[in-house]
Amino acid sequence: MLKWLFNVLQLINHGMTPSFLDEVREVTKQFFALPMEEKQKYSRDAESADGIEGYGNDKILSEKQILNGTERLHITLNPEQRKLKFWPENPKVFRDILNDYTIKLSMVIEIILTAIARSLDLEDNCFLDQYGKEGKMNAGFNYYPKCPRPDLVIGIEEHTDAAAITFLLQDNEVEGLQFQKDNQWFKVPIIPEALLVIVGDQAEIMSNGIFKSPVHRVVTNSERERISLAVFCLPGFNEEIGPIDRLVDESRPRLYKKVPHIFKET
Ligand code: OGA
Ligand code: NI
Repeated sequence: MLKWLFNVLQLINHGMTPSFLDEVREVTKQFFALPMEEKQKYSRDAESADGIEGYGNDKILSEKQILNGTERLHITLNPEQRKLKFWPENPKVFRDILNDYTIKLSMVIEIILTAIARSLDLEDNCFLDQYGKEGKMNAGFNYYPKCPRPDLVIGIEEHTDAAAITFLLQDNEVEGLQFQKDNQWFKVPIIPEALLVIVGDQAEIMSNGIFKSPVHRVVTNSERERISLAVFCLPGFNEEIGPIDRLVDESRPRLYKKVPHIFKET
């Protein structure tokens, strides 16, 4: 069996140039730098059932009840499911750049899911089939303002990603993301030309626990603000997720039931 197991990796041969990745970062920064009234044109609608898309502040209170000021913009990338009312028109190039990024990432997700299958000595398509033709890519843009008390305020609480795979484009200068291993936190170094590939809960389930979705969090920084863009690749709504049959045997019993595709971020 090939061994290519990972929970998180820095991918560099993804076919996108460093200058293109910088453009994606730049439109993210420019959007968050807009005046509040402009950003609020894209606010989440509280009334709609799937009220997760759009711009908003996280009203998460940490254990010590300190409000974190993280701002986020969530949009669906797949062309058929886009809700353009949440796609910023400012900066002007935002939509074109995100469209290019979507096309490029849809190629990368196929390559990653195929490579994961091969690393387990399985048919090339077995993860892709569960991901489905309707596989969904949700983008979460994050803005973490400077924070005078990084010791008290967290940017994102510890969590695993509910997606199959997350592609994270980190800020090219400011660190903040940390992963947990053996009860310790390790920070992720910045490699500007890399995309961080994170295994999510759904890939853990499909692989019957061979791949693990790692616990991670974001800490704040007292000197500098930070941006990131997470793209969550989720299996299509009609798909059922479950351990791939060939990964269940006497030595490795089924660890997860088949579950309908759940829609949940982070
Ligand atoms: C997330 C996440 C990390 C970051 O959005 O799920 O883990 O660096 N983001 O912003
Ligand atoms: Ni995450």
